[in-house]
Amino acid sequence: MNKGLFITFEGADGCGKTTQLNLLKEYLINKNFDVLVTREPGARGLGEKLRDILLNYDGEVSNRCESFLFLADRAQHIDTIVKPALKRGQIILCDRHTDSTVAYQGYGRGIDIEQINKLNHIATDGLKPDLTLVFDIDIDTSMSRVGAEKDRMESAGNDFFNRVRNGYLEIAKNEPQRVKVIDATKPIDKVFESVLKEFNILAQ
Ligand code: TYD
Repeated sequence: MNKGLFITFEGADGCGKTTQLNLLKEYLINKNFDVLVTREPGARGLGEKLRDILLNYDGEVSNRCESFLFLADRAQHIDTIVKPALKRGQIILCDRHTDSTVAYQGYGRGIDIEQINKLNHIATDGLKPDLTLVFDIDIDTSMSRVGAEKDRMESAGNDFFNRVRNGYLEIAKNEPQRVKVIDATKPIDKVFESVLKEFNILAQ
């Protein structure tokens, strides 16, 4: 494989995507692939400051402002980290990306999905992931994983969680080529088998 790959990991809070991302990273490094792990919001530099506001600011944040902050972080991330890594031919494993904004700010907060799609297109400069894995879980499993210490987004409530979850399932229905849903209630090793299966189909 000589071209870079952009793979995004998505799902509601507590779905276990970061664990799976790290398992895939170890697997690929063992196979001598050149891997870059990154995340949204807040990969590094300015992004880290935006992340701090998005997750920890305790004053009023309007829904549109929240969306623009995530989008600003995305534009910076694509320009300064993702595009250069793709040029170098790296495999990029990214913890959350455009579908988080569609699921959380669109389906979750109720911002018009078409508008978010347009804004995502601007923020990414039209770049799309080669593969997106959505880790699907129910609210009870999620809450038991997240635990008592919740950040601003995790404190948004059960209805919000269910809207986000259903949002991800809608996204997958609309883009079945790119977006694959994985049952994340299964044990970690079983979930990873599904992750590897999807990676191998992509890398063929
Ligand atoms: P993080 O601690 O990275 O959570 P997780 O481990 O679940 O990925 O926090 C990111 C939070 O920000 C998470 O609750 C989802 C939310 N988010 C959005 O609402 N919109 C977005 O566009 C992105 C990228 C994240």
